[in-house]
Amino acid sequence: MVKVAVLGYGTVGSGIVEVIKTNQDMVNKKAGDEVDVKYILDLRDFPGDPYEQLVVHDVDTILNDEEVAVICEAMGGVEPAYTFSKKALLAGKSVCTSNKELVAKHGPELIHIAKEHKCNYLFEASVGGGIPIIRPINASLTPEKIDAVTGILNGTTNYILTKMEKEGSDFAEVLKEAQEKGYAERNPEADVEGYDACRKIAILSSLVYGKNVDYEDIYTEGITKITTTDFKYAKKMGYTIKLLAKSKCVDDKYFAYVYPCMINKENPLFSVNDVFNAVLIHGNTLGNTMYYGKGAGKLPTASAVVSDVIDCVKHLGKNIFCFWEEEKLELSNMEESRSQFFVRVKDDATAAEAAFGKGTIVDAGIAGEVGFITPLMSEKDFQVAAANVDMISRIHLEA
Ligand code: HSE
Repeated sequence: MVKVAVLGYGTVGSGIVEVIKTNQDMVNKKAGDEVDVKYILDLRDFPGDPYEQLVVHDVDTILNDEEVAVICEAMGGVEPAYTFSKKALLAGKSVCTSNKELVAKHGPELIHIAKEHKCNYLFEASVGGGIPIIRPINASLTPEKIDAVTGILNGTTNYILTKMEKEGSDFAEVLKEAQEKGYAERNPEADVEGYDACRKIAILSSLVYGKNVDYEDIYTEGITKITTTDFKYAKKMGYTIKLLAKSKCVDDKYFAYVYPCMINKENPLFSVNDVFNAVLIHGNTLGNTMYYGKGAGKLPTASAVVSDVIDCVKHLGKNIFCFWEEEKLELSNMEESRSQFFVRVKDDATAAEAAFGKGTIVDAGIAGEVGFITPLMSEKDFQVAAANVDMISRIHLEA
């Protein structure tokens, strides 16, 4: 029998216990051993909860118990999750986590400690909630030279954008719904300003390129400036607006960014709606593959953590290789990144064309302004050109 402890009995932590208990038989069979939750760590008590007798308040009870081999960290935030995870790994206990903030900040160090101590630091649930994405990158896409990863990596913002598009809903009202459904972060600024997606693309990029991508180097723009008028233009053009998190390697230069982007029906991410996330990966010999599923929510996220628990049990005493070195990957200056842009200008279309070059005029019937799709250009050239028009707003656009 393998003893497991769960740190944090909130949305994800209670989901982990629920998934193990609901699917106990399946979990045991796939792990090749009995998996038993021995402790739940939380500051609170849970009177009436079926597992209240498992609750402890002192992490040392868990860390000093030699029987505990696997720890699920579902506390969120950097501290004390970092200190507890590090101590657990140094004691040879594997750690499985959904904590993207911690993985993005200290992932390479914790992976290294796990390797030194013949245990594992696994984080399938940290990106894409219930979507299997970390394991496919580490196990299935290994022969590939991956040159682009594009994701819809935040369920809350995708939920909001979908409701704005389909129902013309009010931003604040939809955000409240997402919070009630347990999708949003404790501080939803992390969702709507793109910080959560930024950490997730940092994790994926580090895994595919093999060196550490510092999330603080990633250009990040959220969805707070997107309006229902933008969706009117998008509809007219046959496009939609998604918060994309992307990294790419172009001529040996690496770029990573998070921004709202207009995409059309040809893009496989076009139909990814509501809380669903998707990750599109391009490999040099494989071409495109896409991974799709629920990107947030209690049970999908918990299921991904439990998949890591099973992997840890199957590999007790052995480290599973992870291609993520501590060395930093230098990202190129965003000013050099090239894309098209959709701009709304107060001037007429002639002024827009004079500034940006030959593009496409879009008339969505909005008084006092005109829409314009620029040709492909660098961020720097765009900024120079934009200074010559009376611009209301701009959104990146990818074919
Ligand atoms: N707040 C996150 C989201 C939760 O909405 O995607 C899952 O990481």
